Amino acid sequence: MFEIIILLILSAVAYFITAELIPNLSDLFIKAGLFGIDLCKTNKKKVPEAIGVVSGCVFLVTSFIFIPIVFGNGLMDTQNFPHNEFAELLAGLLSICCMLLLGFADDVLDLRWRYKLLLPTMASLPLLVVYYVNFNSTTFVVPIPLRQWLGISVNIGFLYYIYMGMLAVFCTNAINILAGINGLEVGQSVVIALSIIIFDIIELRGDQYKAHTFSLHIMIPYLATTLALLKHNWYPSKVFVGDTFCYVSGMTFAVVAILSHFSKTVLLFFLPQIINFLYSVPQLFHIIPCPRHRLPKYSEETDLLHASRTIIVKKDMTFITKLILQVLTMLHLTDKVEDEDCININNMTLINLFLIKLGPTSEVQLTTTLMAFQVFCTCVAFVVRYPMASYFYDS
Ligand code: UD1
Ligand code: MG
Repeated sequence: MFEIIILLILSAVAYFITAELIPNLSDLFIKAGLFGIDLCKTNKKKVPEAIGVVSGCVFLVTSFIFIPIVFGNGLMDTQNFPHNEFAELLAGLLSICCMLLLGFADDVLDLRWRYKLLLPTMASLPLLVVYYVNFNSTTFVVPIPLRQWLGISVNIGFLYYIYMGMLAVFCTNAINILAGINGLEVGQSVVIALSIIIFDIIELRGDQYKAHTFSLHIMIPYLATTLALLKHNWYPSKVFVGDTFCYVSGMTFAVVAILSHFSKTVLLFFLPQIINFLYSVPQLFHIIPCPRHRLPKYSEETDLLHASRTIIVKKDMTFITKLILQVLTMLHLTDKVEDEDCININNMTLINLFLIKLGPTSEVQLTTTLMAFQVFCTCVAFVVRYPMASYFYDS
């Protein structure tokens, strides 16, 4: 408990430092050519980009300062030093640190999509190695209804490591593609972080309290620095967070999911990101044309956002494209306008889907609505995790 109080104090300091540093460093970023134009505004001012590197660095430094506090007792008594737990924390921070570096490289160099998949895979290696050394548990507990066929648990061996690597790739990219309106990348991360913290607090009384204390040690400073970033990234954004932030966030969630053994629960908190990813698949795999930006289209006359669109040339359509379009139309998930040669369809993101269903909306209202949806999904996740889980698993 003592260490959590110290961590709360450190995190409060980290919040104020980050909130102060961001406006002070903004000009340096613009001078270095790190800026973007807000595509949903009339003014075409330069907005500093990749500011996630500032909050990410303060988060890491806070975590480093916290190491001697959390391992204070062990340092006095080196004979009984908890090497396993120490290695876990270091590997977790190393993976996040790698992601910060690689994400910043992406912001500076604007890397291609294939590297966006490769980078988190490499950054997750320290995590997987420590998992192998410390736990190497590759067993899934089978839900009760399936036990008659599969038994109580299934050991999937090496595949479990592939699953964990893919989890890191998913978490990092899923946040990055649910983006493009002020405050959304950071807003969704704040809701997910809060959900994990609430889950940790509930579980602190259980027998997995050590794993949940570890998760709190990472999530509390992360949340504090991210809230400071949100202050400047909220509508109208004074800074953009860049891919650096999305990668650091995704990796932070993957670290706690893997090392605290609650990856399924973390995935439940990622429900909007999973929906957005599945809806995006046809465009991500270029079955339907995917423009560089899929963020909503801004109307200067009304100051409202509309769903952005892409064009499919009919003669280029394959059987799969036709099938996907049919299914989406049947499910009322697209806004399609057809002429003789082309089909004009909305870009397939959750943001555009909300705009189709709600009609043109102001940017701030759209971000707030999407964040409310994220909170709603957290509530669903808790219902699935607690009351419903007892039907599938022994308590
Ligand atoms: C991802 C999305 C892309 C979306 C972009 C927006 C996929 C496959 N990629 O690409 O469709 O358009 O994120 O971040 O889904 N911007 C704003 N307002 C904001 C935030 C960003 O106008 O609130 C614009 C700015 O011009 C900024 C740029 O988006 O410079 C940043 O885009 P970037 O993060 O480089 O795009 P990707 O992550 O590659
Ligand atoms: Mg991005």
